[in-house]
Amino acid sequence: MIRVGVVGLGFMGNMHAKNYRALENTNLAVICDIDENKLKGTAGTAGNIEGTEQPLDLTDVELYSDYDKMLADAKLDAVSITLPTYMHRDFTVKALQAGLNVLCEKPMALNLQECDQMIAAAEKSGKILQIGHCIRFWPEYVRTKEIIDSGEYGRVVAATFQRLSVTPTWSWDNWLLAGKRSGGAIFDLHIHDSDFVQYVFGIPKAVYSRAAKGPSGDFDHVMTQYIYDDQKVITAEGGFVMSPSFGFEMSFNIIFEKATIIYDCTREPAFKICPPEGDALTPEVQAGDGWSLEIAHFIKAVSGQKVPDITTPAQSRDSVKLILAEHESAQSGKEVPIR
Ligand SMILES: NC(=O)c1ccc[n+]([C@@H]2O[C@H](COP(=O)([O-])OP(=O)(O)OC[C@H]3O[C@@H](n4cnc5c(N)ncnc54)[C@H](O)[C@@H]3O)[C@@H](O)[C@H]2O)c1
Repeated sequence: MIRVGVVGLGFMGNMHAKNYRALENTNLAVICDIDENKLKGTAGTAGNIEGTEQPLDLTDVELYSDYDKMLADAKLDAVSITLPTYMHRDFTVKALQAGLNVLCEKPMALNLQECDQMIAAAEKSGKILQIGHCIRFWPEYVRTKEIIDSGEYGRVVAATFQRLSVTPTWSWDNWLLAGKRSGGAIFDLHIHDSDFVQYVFGIPKAVYSRAAKGPSGDFDHVMTQYIYDDQKVITAEGGFVMSPSFGFEMSFNIIFEKATIIYDCTREPAFKICPPEGDALTPEVQAGDGWSLEIAHFIKAVSGQKVPDITTPAQSRDSVKLILAEHESAQSGKEVPIR
C-alpha cells in the first residue's frame, strides 16, 4: 500500500485526493493545508471544471496544517504538491529531500532557475518527480497523438488549440489574480497547450505571441504561433478573461492531409474525426480523464512498475521555457527563437 499525502486542499488538491482514493493500492493517508477550515472537510472546492464540488470525506485521514511537521511525522511514500505555483519549488525540494516521491502540479515553476533546483533535488534524492501536465494523459489528446504519430491521415497541415475560461475569482488568497504569484493565464492555463504542442510536434524553432494584459496584471489572454522548419501552421489561444456565463472550453482543430480531427469539451459528441469522405466518426478513447490517468501513472511508477516516458521533468522545464519565450514575444512584439 502506497501512503500518499496531498498538500494544499484547494481545487486541484481535492481532485488529486479523490483520484488517489479511487486507486486500490493507494492509501490517501494525509492532507496538509494551512487553512484549518479546509481540514474540516465540510466544503467542496470551486474551479472552472466540474468534479470537486462535493466535500471530501476526511475520515481516517491524518490532518496537518504544518508542512514541516507532516514531513517529519507522517511516514509517507509520496506526496502531491497542489499549492499555488509560486510555492512549487520550495515545497517540492523539501519533499524530495525528505525522501518522498513528488507529483507537483503544473506549471513546474515560474522561472527556469527554480525548475533546475527541482530537477537537481530529484536527481540527488533518486525519487520520482512528475509535473501535472494532465493533457498528455487526457484520453482524446492521447488518441490524437497516436493518430498523428501513425501518419494514417498523412501529415499535419495546421493545428489550433484553445483553452478559454472565465476569470478565476475563487483561489486561495486570490493568488491566481496576482501575476507575480501565478504568472497570469499565459502561465497558468495556456501552458497546457504549449506543453501538448511540444509533446506532439517537438520544440518549435521560435514563437510569436500577441497577448492582452488582464486582471492578474500580466498576460491573461494570449495567441501564439509555434514556428517550425516545415510549413505547418500551429497556433494556441488561451486565457481567463471570458465573461462569467461563458464557462470553460478546451478544444482543438487539427487539419491533416487526409482528414480533420476536432475536439471541443463543450459539444456533444466532443471528439470527431472527419474523414476524406462520408460522415464524421467518434473514435473510442480510454475511460477516465487526464487527472485520474496521470495519477494512476504516478502511483505505478512509485510502486516500481515500468511506465512509459509520457512526461519528464526536463520536458516540463521546456514548457516553462516556451511560456517565458511567448511572454517575451508578447512584450517585444517580435518573434523569439527557442534556444
Ligand atoms: N492540472 C490542472 O488542470 C490544474 C487546474 C487548476 C489548477 N492547477 C494548478 O494547481 C495548483 C493549485 O491550484 P488551485 O486552483 O488548486 O489553487 P487553490 O487556491 O484552489 O488551492 C490552494 C490551496 O493551498 C493551500 N495553501 C496555501 N498555502 C499553504 C501552505 N503554506 N501549506 C499548506 N497549504 C497551503 C490553500 O489553503 C488552498 O487550499 C496551481 O499550480 C495551479 O496552476 C492545475
